Amino acid sequence: MHVCSIVGARPQFIKAAVVSRKLRTVADETLIHTGQHYDEALSDVFFDELDIPEPEFNLGVESDTHGRQTAKMVAAIEPVIEETDPDVILLYGDTNSTLAGALVGSKREVAVAHVEAGLRSDNRSMPEEVNRVLTDHASDLCFAPSRDAIENLTAEGITDGVFWTGDVMYDAILDARDRSREQSTILDDRGLTADEFILATVHRASNTDDRANLAAILDGLADAPLPVVFPAHPRTVDRLREYGLWERATSELDVIEPQGYLDFVRLLDAAERVATDSGGVQKEAFFLETRCVTLREETEWVETVDCGWNRLVGPDRSRIREAVSADWRPESTPRPYGDGLAGQRIISLLQQRLADSEPDDRL
Ligand code: UD1
Ligand code: UDP
Repeated sequence: MHVCSIVGARPQFIKAAVVSRKLRTVADETLIHTGQHYDEALSDVFFDELDIPEPEFNLGVESDTHGRQTAKMVAAIEPVIEETDPDVILLYGDTNSTLAGALVGSKREVAVAHVEAGLRSDNRSMPEEVNRVLTDHASDLCFAPSRDAIENLTAEGITDGVFWTGDVMYDAILDARDRSREQSTILDDRGLTADEFILATVHRASNTDDRANLAAILDGLADAPLPVVFPAHPRTVDRLREYGLWERATSELDVIEPQGYLDFVRLLDAAERVATDSGGVQKEAFFLETRCVTLREETEWVETVDCGWNRLVGPDRSRIREAVSADWRPESTPRPYGDGLAGQRIISLLQQRLADSEPDDRL
């Protein structure tokens, strides 16, 4: 079996780490890095820390408008698929790199497998929502992290090739939680005490690219009763500077560089609560039992809200202030995202699919 995995952005490196190492023990893998994330702190650090195989191809596409970035990726991925001739293209999540891989797979008639299939925020103005929907509809295998995700696919008429696998980020966090407690020195390095700080991340376009929203988030976080540690995505740093909010941000918050995975997980594990617009961080907070305040009006990780570990507040100063200050508590701690064996299940399903599609010599 030959699998071509395509990654490009920070969360995809973390997800691929769960699958790639194990996959290579039973199959050939070609790893393509589109280059969507290229800063050391957004890319190389994860390959080093998580022992992800060196990509066989780095397409160096980098930042651009969404249309041009996706088009450049499609143009660069296609010849690699032609050259390497995989049985399956394996995609993760909902970024432009995901969509580009799905388009190439469908145009070249190579089977496409999508990890994190079936998630929906029902907000089509999010670029990620469009990427998810299109990728699911172009996929031959949909690996769903939850039962809700399967229902979403069914509602859109996608029923063939749909499998519940659980969530690969749960696999990842189980390993990283223990390693980060043993190895990370970030709390001591930054003079932080567990449960005496709030962690925050912001990078969603609807928050960063709108001055009023970004300012409201800053104000809401500045009202928090505890110090706020803020590992800032480069796009957020750019916008804070452009909007004249940089001084305000650095005087009110502890603005730090994006962190490597183990240090970030240590911060999230130790934080009193987290405020974020990230998809992955909402889920990781739930896994680590850290209360989450989500700086969006909706989420695709609905289970975390239903059980009370996650509160949706949007970019709204007073709702943020209330959610980071009040002593609200979750109602229950269910386990809707599997058992930490999603990676293994995905590999088995890929093997099974290939065995089913090979001509039977006995006939
Ligand atoms: C992308 C994904 C988003 C995901 C996020 C993970 C899309 C549409 N968005 O958002 O779903 O949650 O990655 O972090 O695919 N930049 C750098 N250095 C880098 C990369 C980006 O400085 O290594 C800056 C550039 O100014 C760029 C901006 O960040 O224009 C946005 O980068 P881009 O990859 O387009 O989107 P993200 O916001 O990172
Ligand atoms: N993350 C990290 N360092 C940081 C911020 C986030 O390692 O400074 C990790 C985080 O633990 C999670 C992933 O990056 O696994 C989430 O990525 P991001 O928020 O960029 O994207 P999203 O999940 O929203 O697509």
